[in-house]
Amino acid sequence: MAEKSFTKIAYQTLQQGKSLAGLVHKQISSKLLELVAPEVMPDTDPISREQLLELRRSISQLEHSDWKDAEKGLYPKSQLFEAPWIEWAARYPLIWLDLPSTWKRRKNRNTQEIPKTINKEVYPDYYLQNFHHQTDGYLSDHSAGLYDLQVEILFSGTADAMRRRVLAPLVKGLQEFKTRPHAKLRVLDVATGTGRTLKQIRAALPKIELFGLDLSGSYLRQASRYLNNNNSEFVQLIRGNAEEMPFSNESMQAVTCVFLFHELPRHARQNVLKECWRILEPGGTLVLADSIQIKDSPQFLNVMEDFYKVFHEPYYKDYINDDIEDRLNKSGFESISSESHFMTRIWSAVKPKGIR
Ligand SMILES: C[S@@+](CC[C@H](N)C(=O)[O-])C[C@H]1O[C@@H](n2cnc3c(N)ncnc32)[C@H](O)[C@@H]1O
Repeated sequence: MAEKSFTKIAYQTLQQGKSLAGLVHKQISSKLLELVAPEVMPDTDPISREQLLELRRSISQLEHSDWKDAEKGLYPKSQLFEAPWIEWAARYPLIWLDLPSTWKRRKNRNTQEIPKTINKEVYPDYYLQNFHHQTDGYLSDHSAGLYDLQVEILFSGTADAMRRRVLAPLVKGLQEFKTRPHAKLRVLDVATGTGRTLKQIRAALPKIELFGLDLSGSYLRQASRYLNNNNSEFVQLIRGNAEEMPFSNESMQAVTCVFLFHELPRHARQNVLKECWRILEPGGTLVLADSIQIKDSPQFLNVMEDFYKVFHEPYYKDYINDDIEDRLNKSGFESISSESHFMTRIWSAVKPKGIR
Protein backbone atom coordinates (compact mmCIF):
# COMPACT_ATOMS: atom_id res chain seq x y z
CA MET A 1 0.00 0.00 0.00
CA ALA A 2 2.74 2.44 1.05
CA GLU A 3 4.74 1.44 -2.01
CA LYS A 4 1.69 2.04 -4.22
CA SER A 5 1.09 5.54 -2.88
CA PHE A 6 4.79 6.32 -3.08
CA THR A 7 4.90 5.31 -6.77
CA LYS A 8 1.76 7.29 -7.52
CA ILE A 9 3.12 10.39 -5.80
CA ALA A 10 6.42 9.96 -7.66
CA TYR A 11 4.50 9.73 -10.98
CA GLN A 12 2.39 12.80 -10.21
CA THR A 13 5.47 14.74 -9.13
CA LEU A 14 7.33 13.78 -12.29
CA GLN A 15 4.40 14.89 -14.46
CA GLN A 16 4.08 18.20 -12.60
CA GLY A 17 7.82 18.76 -12.94
CA LYS A 18 7.73 18.07 -16.69
CA SER A 19 4.71 20.31 -17.13
CA LEU A 20 6.40 23.16 -15.27
CA ALA A 21 9.66 22.70 -17.16
CA GLY A 22 7.76 22.76 -20.48
CA LEU A 23 5.89 25.89 -19.49
CA VAL A 24 9.00 27.73 -18.35
CA HIS A 25 10.85 26.74 -21.52
CA LYS A 26 8.00 27.99 -23.73
CA GLN A 27 7.68 31.26 -21.83
CA ILE A 28 11.39 32.06 -21.89
CA SER A 29 11.78 31.19 -25.57
CA SER A 30 8.73 33.25 -26.47
CA LYS A 31 10.06 36.26 -24.48
CA LEU A 32 13.43 35.89 -26.16
CA LEU A 33 11.82 35.83 -29.60
CA GLU A 34 9.83 38.95 -28.73
CA LEU A 35 13.09 40.63 -27.77
CA VAL A 36 15.31 39.63 -30.68
CA ALA A 37 12.81 39.31 -33.53
CA PRO A 38 9.46 40.87 -32.63
CA GLU A 39 8.44 40.89 -36.29
CA VAL A 40 8.37 37.06 -36.27
CA MET A 41 6.06 36.80 -33.26
CA PRO A 42 3.05 34.78 -34.41
CA ASP A 43 -0.32 36.47 -34.14
CA THR A 44 -1.89 33.94 -31.78
CA ASP A 45 -5.19 34.00 -29.90
CA PRO A 46 -4.68 34.21 -26.14
CA ILE A 47 -5.96 31.25 -24.14
CA SER A 48 -8.73 32.17 -21.75
CA ARG A 49 -8.75 31.30 -18.05
CA GLU A 50 -11.63 28.85 -18.61
CA GLN A 51 -9.71 27.13 -21.39
CA LEU A 52 -6.63 26.92 -19.23
CA LEU A 53 -8.66 25.25 -16.49
CA GLU A 54 -10.21 22.90 -19.05
CA LEU A 55 -6.75 22.05 -20.39
CA ARG A 56 -5.50 21.34 -16.87
CA ARG A 57 -8.54 19.14 -16.24
CA SER A 58 -7.90 17.11 -19.36
CA ILE A 59 -4.23 16.68 -18.42
CA SER A 60 -5.34 15.36 -15.00
CA GLN A 61 -7.75 12.94 -16.67
CA LEU A 62 -5.04 11.74 -19.02
CA GLU A 63 -2.67 11.13 -16.12
CA HIS A 64 -5.41 9.40 -14.14
CA SER A 65 -6.08 6.99 -17.06
CA ASP A 66 -2.35 6.46 -17.50
CA TRP A 67 -1.91 5.56 -13.83
CA LYS A 68 -5.02 3.33 -13.77
CA ASP A 69 -3.91 1.33 -16.82
CA ALA A 70 -0.47 0.79 -15.29
CA GLU A 71 -2.11 -0.24 -12.02
CA LYS A 72 -4.29 -2.76 -13.88
CA GLY A 73 -1.10 -4.25 -15.33
CA LEU A 74 -1.74 -3.21 -18.92
CA TYR A 75 1.86 -2.02 -18.90
CA PRO A 76 4.54 -2.01 -16.20
CA LYS A 77 4.56 1.00 -13.86
CA SER A 78 8.20 1.49 -14.75
CA GLN A 79 6.91 2.74 -18.15
CA LEU A 80 5.50 5.81 -16.41
CA PHE A 81 9.06 6.90 -15.66
CA GLU A 82 10.75 5.59 -18.80
CA ALA A 83 12.91 8.06 -20.74
CA PRO A 84 16.60 8.41 -21.59
CA TRP A 85 16.83 11.13 -18.92
CA ILE A 86 20.62 11.60 -18.98
CA GLU A 87 20.69 11.80 -22.76
CA TRP A 88 17.80 14.28 -22.79
CA ALA A 89 19.49 16.43 -20.16
CA ALA A 90 22.71 16.43 -22.19
CA ARG A 91 20.83 17.40 -25.35
CA TYR A 92 18.65 20.08 -23.81
CA PRO A 93 21.17 22.93 -24.39
CA LEU A 94 21.18 22.01 -28.10
CA ILE A 95 17.53 23.00 -28.28
CA TRP A 96 18.46 26.54 -27.21
CA LEU A 97 21.40 26.61 -29.61
CA ASP A 98 19.08 25.55 -32.41
CA LEU A 99 16.47 28.26 -31.75
CA PRO A 100 18.09 31.14 -33.70
CA SER A 101 18.16 29.11 -36.93
CA THR A 102 14.53 28.13 -36.33
CA TRP A 103 13.57 31.79 -35.90
CA LYS A 104 15.55 32.73 -39.03
CA ARG A 105 13.64 30.15 -41.09
CA ARG A 106 10.39 31.46 -39.68
CA LYS A 107 11.35 35.05 -40.44
CA ASN A 108 12.39 34.27 -44.02
CA ARG A 109 9.39 31.99 -44.51
CA ASN A 110 11.88 29.35 -45.48
CA THR A 111 10.18 26.00 -45.09
CA GLN A 112 12.20 23.84 -47.43
CA GLU A 113 15.69 24.05 -46.00
CA ILE A 114 16.71 20.41 -45.98
CA PRO A 115 20.19 18.87 -46.18
CA LYS A 116 21.69 19.14 -49.68
CA THR A 117 23.01 15.59 -49.55
CA ILE A 118 19.48 14.14 -49.46
CA ASN A 119 18.36 12.21 -52.50
CA LYS A 120 15.04 13.96 -53.07
CA GLU A 121 13.74 11.29 -55.39
CA VAL A 122 13.31 8.89 -52.50
CA TYR A 123 10.75 11.08 -50.72
CA PRO A 124 7.28 12.39 -51.51
CA ASP A 125 7.29 16.18 -52.11
CA TYR A 126 5.14 16.92 -49.06
CA TYR A 127 7.82 15.37 -46.83
CA LEU A 128 10.67 17.66 -47.94
CA GLN A 129 9.84 20.50 -45.55
CA ASN A 130 10.85 21.87 -42.18
CA PHE A 131 7.86 20.65 -40.22
CA HIS A 132 7.67 22.77 -37.00
CA HIS A 133 10.47 24.87 -38.63
CA GLN A 134 12.71 22.06 -37.43
CA THR A 135 16.33 22.21 -38.62
CA ASP A 136 16.79 19.69 -41.50
CA GLY A 137 13.12 18.63 -41.34
CA TYR A 138 13.13 14.94 -40.46
CA LEU A 139 16.27 14.37 -42.45
CA SER A 140 19.28 14.45 -40.14
CA ASP A 141 20.67 12.85 -36.99
CA HIS A 142 20.68 16.34 -35.44
CA SER A 143 16.92 16.61 -35.92
CA ALA A 144 16.35 13.06 -34.66
CA GLY A 145 18.41 13.83 -31.54
CA LEU A 146 16.23 16.80 -30.56
CA TYR A 147 12.81 15.53 -31.61
CA ASP A 148 11.66 13.66 -28.47
CA LEU A 149 12.59 16.52 -26.19
CA GLN A 150 10.89 19.07 -28.44
CA VAL A 151 7.67 17.05 -28.43
CA GLU A 152 7.74 16.61 -24.66
CA ILE A 153 8.20 20.37 -24.26
CA LEU A 154 5.41 21.11 -26.74
CA PHE A 155 2.95 18.88 -24.86
CA SER A 156 4.15 19.98 -21.40
CA GLY A 157 5.48 16.53 -20.54
CA THR A 158 2.42 14.53 -21.62
CA ALA A 159 3.57 13.19 -25.01
CA ASP A 160 4.42 9.70 -23.76
CA ALA A 161 1.26 9.49 -21.66
CA MET A 162 -0.76 10.37 -24.78
CA ARG A 163 1.09 7.75 -26.86
CA ARG A 164 0.34 5.13 -24.19
CA ARG A 165 -3.39 5.60 -24.93
CA VAL A 166 -2.93 3.34 -27.96
CA LEU A 167 -2.05 0.40 -25.71
CA ALA A 168 -5.52 -0.43 -24.33
CA PRO A 169 -7.23 -0.59 -27.76
CA LEU A 170 -4.23 -2.45 -29.16
CA VAL A 171 -4.31 -5.13 -26.44
CA LYS A 172 -8.09 -5.39 -26.83
CA GLY A 173 -7.79 -5.75 -30.60
CA LEU A 174 -5.21 -8.54 -30.31
CA GLN A 175 -7.70 -10.54 -28.24
CA GLU A 176 -9.15 -11.53 -31.60
CA PHE A 177 -6.08 -13.75 -32.02
CA LYS A 178 -5.93 -15.01 -28.44
CA THR A 179 -5.55 -18.66 -29.39
CA ARG A 180 -2.19 -17.88 -31.02
CA PRO A 181 1.04 -17.57 -29.02
CA HIS A 182 2.25 -13.96 -28.78
CA ALA A 183 5.41 -14.82 -30.68
CA LYS A 184 3.20 -15.49 -33.72
CA LEU A 185 1.57 -12.06 -33.64
CA ARG A 186 2.98 -9.20 -35.68
CA VAL A 187 2.38 -5.54 -34.90
CA LEU A 188 3.60 -2.62 -37.01
CA ASP A 189 4.01 0.98 -35.84
CA VAL A 190 3.69 3.22 -38.91
CA ALA A 191 5.76 6.44 -38.93
CA THR A 192 7.44 5.27 -35.77
CA GLY A 193 9.94 8.16 -35.66
CA THR A 194 12.34 7.56 -32.78
CA GLY A 195 10.33 4.53 -31.66
CA ARG A 196 8.73 5.84 -28.44
CA THR A 197 5.47 3.99 -29.18
CA LEU A 198 7.30 0.78 -30.06
CA LYS A 199 9.10 0.93 -26.74
CA GLN A 200 5.78 1.21 -24.96
CA ILE A 201 4.22 -1.62 -26.97
CA ARG A 202 7.16 -3.89 -26.24
CA ALA A 203 6.85 -3.18 -22.50
CA ALA A 204 3.15 -4.10 -22.62
CA LEU A 205 3.50 -7.07 -24.99
CA PRO A 206 7.11 -8.26 -24.66
CA LYS A 207 6.85 -11.40 -26.80
CA ILE A 208 5.09 -9.95 -29.83
CA GLU A 209 6.99 -9.53 -33.09
CA LEU A 210 7.35 -5.80 -33.61
CA PHE A 211 8.04 -3.73 -36.71
CA GLY A 212 8.55 0.00 -37.15
CA LEU A 213 8.37 1.89 -40.43
CA ASP A 214 9.42 5.46 -41.17
CA LEU A 215 10.71 7.52 -44.08
CA SER A 216 13.59 8.96 -42.09
CA GLY A 217 16.76 6.88 -41.84
CA SER A 218 18.04 9.23 -39.13
CA TYR A 219 14.95 8.78 -36.96
CA LEU A 220 15.13 5.00 -37.43
CA ARG A 221 18.80 5.04 -36.43
CA GLN A 222 17.81 6.81 -33.24
CA ALA A 223 14.95 4.32 -32.72
CA SER A 224 17.35 1.43 -33.16
CA ARG A 225 19.70 2.84 -30.52
CA TYR A 226 16.82 3.10 -28.04
CA LEU A 227 15.16 -0.22 -28.87
CA ASN A 228 17.77 -2.74 -29.88
CA ASN A 229 20.34 -2.25 -27.15
CA ASN A 230 19.54 -5.04 -24.69
CA ASN A 231 18.13 -8.55 -24.45
CA SER A 232 14.53 -7.54 -25.20
CA GLU A 233 12.87 -8.92 -28.33
CA PHE A 234 14.48 -7.44 -31.44
CA VAL A 235 12.40 -4.77 -33.18
CA GLN A 236 12.65 -4.68 -36.97
CA LEU A 237 12.93 -1.15 -38.35
CA ILE A 238 12.28 -0.54 -42.00
CA ARG A 239 12.71 2.63 -44.03
CA GLY A 240 9.77 3.16 -46.34
CA ASN A 241 6.76 5.21 -47.31
CA ALA A 242 3.57 4.53 -45.36
CA GLU A 243 1.65 5.05 -48.60
CA GLU A 244 3.35 2.00 -50.12
CA MET A 245 4.47 -0.27 -47.37
CA PRO A 246 6.92 -3.10 -48.01
CA PHE A 247 4.78 -5.72 -46.26
CA SER A 248 2.66 -8.45 -47.80
CA ASN A 249 -1.13 -8.55 -47.70
CA GLU A 250 -2.68 -9.60 -44.37
CA SER A 251 0.73 -9.96 -42.70
CA MET A 252 -0.02 -7.92 -39.52
CA GLN A 253 -2.47 -8.60 -36.70
CA ALA A 254 -2.43 -4.97 -35.59
CA VAL A 255 -1.12 -1.62 -36.81
CA THR A 256 -0.54 1.54 -34.80
CA CYS A 257 0.18 5.01 -36.14
CA VAL A 258 0.93 7.96 -33.88
CA PHE A 259 1.10 11.68 -34.81
CA LEU A 260 1.45 11.11 -38.56
CA PHE A 261 -1.87 12.11 -40.10
CA HIS A 262 -1.69 15.83 -39.33
CA GLU A 263 1.54 15.98 -41.35
CA LEU A 264 0.05 14.42 -44.47
CA PRO A 265 -1.96 15.96 -47.28
CA ARG A 266 -5.42 14.43 -47.76
CA HIS A 267 -4.57 12.02 -50.55
CA ALA A 268 -1.65 10.62 -48.54
CA ARG A 269 -3.88 10.12 -45.46
CA GLN A 270 -6.22 8.05 -47.58
CA ASN A 271 -3.36 6.08 -49.14
CA VAL A 272 -1.97 5.23 -45.71
CA LEU A 273 -5.37 3.96 -44.54
CA LYS A 274 -5.65 1.86 -47.67
CA GLU A 275 -2.23 0.36 -46.99
CA CYS A 276 -3.06 -0.35 -43.34
CA TRP A 277 -6.17 -2.18 -44.55
CA ARG A 278 -4.17 -4.19 -47.07
CA ILE A 279 -1.51 -5.42 -44.65
CA LEU A 280 -3.93 -6.23 -41.81
CA GLU A 281 -5.18 -9.77 -41.43
CA PRO A 282 -9.00 -9.85 -41.32
CA GLY A 283 -9.96 -9.41 -37.67
CA GLY A 284 -6.91 -7.19 -37.15
CA THR A 285 -7.06 -3.76 -35.52
CA LEU A 286 -5.76 -0.36 -36.55
CA VAL A 287 -5.12 2.13 -33.74
CA LEU A 288 -4.54 5.72 -34.85
CA ALA A 289 -3.46 8.56 -32.59
CA ASP A 290 -3.26 12.17 -33.68
CA SER A 291 -4.27 15.66 -32.76
CA ILE A 292 -7.80 16.35 -31.54
CA GLN A 293 -10.01 17.93 -34.22
CA ILE A 294 -12.58 20.71 -34.39
CA LYS A 295 -15.52 18.29 -34.51
CA ASP A 296 -14.66 16.56 -31.22
CA SER A 297 -13.01 19.43 -29.36
CA PRO A 298 -14.56 22.76 -30.50
CA GLN A 299 -13.70 24.25 -27.10
CA PHE A 300 -10.00 24.08 -28.07
CA LEU A 301 -10.38 25.60 -31.53
CA ASN A 302 -8.02 28.50 -30.86
CA VAL A 303 -5.42 26.18 -29.28
CA MET A 304 -5.46 24.19 -32.54
CA GLU A 305 -5.32 27.36 -34.64
CA ASP A 306 -2.40 28.67 -32.59
CA PHE A 307 -0.53 25.46 -33.36
CA TYR A 308 -0.38 26.10 -37.10
CA LYS A 309 0.21 29.82 -36.60
CA VAL A 310 3.29 29.15 -34.44
CA PHE A 311 4.76 26.13 -36.23
CA HIS A 312 5.17 25.23 -39.87
CA GLU A 313 2.44 22.60 -40.09
CA PRO A 314 1.23 22.89 -43.68
CA TYR A 315 -1.50 20.21 -43.48
CA TYR A 316 -2.73 20.71 -39.92
CA LYS A 317 -5.55 23.14 -40.78
CA ASP A 318 -6.91 20.66 -43.28
CA TYR A 319 -6.40 17.79 -40.86
CA ILE A 320 -8.43 19.31 -38.03
CA ASN A 321 -11.36 19.58 -40.44
CA ASP A 322 -10.96 16.12 -41.94
CA ASP A 323 -13.44 13.36 -41.13
CA ILE A 324 -11.19 10.48 -40.12
CA GLU A 325 -14.12 8.27 -39.10
CA ASP A 326 -15.60 8.65 -42.58
CA ARG A 327 -12.23 7.81 -44.13
CA LEU A 328 -11.95 4.68 -41.97
CA ASN A 329 -15.48 3.71 -42.96
CA LYS A 330 -14.86 4.24 -46.65
CA SER A 331 -11.65 2.23 -46.40
CA GLY A 332 -13.74 -0.72 -45.20
CA PHE A 333 -13.01 -0.66 -41.47
CA GLU A 334 -15.72 -1.54 -38.95
CA SER A 335 -16.22 -1.30 -35.17
CA ILE A 336 -14.81 2.22 -35.30
CA SER A 337 -14.50 3.97 -31.97
CA SER A 338 -12.71 7.10 -30.88
CA GLU A 339 -11.94 9.09 -27.76
CA SER A 340 -9.91 12.13 -26.79
CA HIS A 341 -7.14 12.36 -24.22
CA PHE A 342 -5.88 15.91 -23.70
CA MET A 343 -4.58 16.96 -27.15
CA THR A 344 -4.78 13.49 -28.72
CA ARG A 345 -7.62 11.66 -30.42
CA ILE A 346 -7.42 7.88 -30.56
CA TRP A 347 -9.29 5.92 -33.22
CA SER A 348 -9.59 2.18 -33.15
CA ALA A 349 -10.99 0.24 -36.12
CA VAL A 350 -11.20 -3.38 -37.18
CA LYS A 351 -10.75 -4.97 -40.60
CA PRO A 352 -13.77 -7.25 -40.71
CA LYS A 353 -13.43 -10.97 -41.30
CA GLY A 354 -14.84 -12.54 -44.41
CA ILE A 355 -13.70 -9.71 -46.72
CA ARG A 356 -10.62 -10.18 -48.85
C1 LIG B 1 5.35 13.90 -35.90
S1 LIG B 1 6.40 12.58 -36.23
C2 LIG B 1 5.69 11.25 -35.26
C3 LIG B 1 6.74 10.21 -34.88
C4 LIG B 1 6.28 9.18 -33.83
N1 LIG B 1 5.19 8.36 -34.29
C5 LIG B 1 5.95 9.86 -32.52
O1 LIG B 1 5.02 9.42 -31.86
O2 LIG B 1 6.68 10.75 -32.12
C6 LIG B 1 5.98 12.12 -37.84
C7 LIG B 1 6.83 10.97 -38.38
O3 LIG B 1 6.26 10.52 -39.58
C8 LIG B 1 7.28 10.22 -40.50
N2 LIG B 1 6.66 10.29 -41.83
C9 LIG B 1 6.07 11.36 -42.42
N3 LIG B 1 5.55 11.02 -43.61
C10 LIG B 1 5.77 9.68 -43.75
C11 LIG B 1 5.45 8.73 -44.77
N4 LIG B 1 4.79 9.07 -45.87
N5 LIG B 1 5.84 7.47 -44.58
C12 LIG B 1 6.53 7.09 -43.49
N6 LIG B 1 6.85 7.94 -42.49
C13 LIG B 1 6.49 9.23 -42.63
C14 LIG B 1 8.35 11.25 -40.21
O4 LIG B 1 9.61 10.85 -40.69
C15 LIG B 1 8.27 11.33 -38.69
O5 LIG B 1 9.14 10.41 -38.08
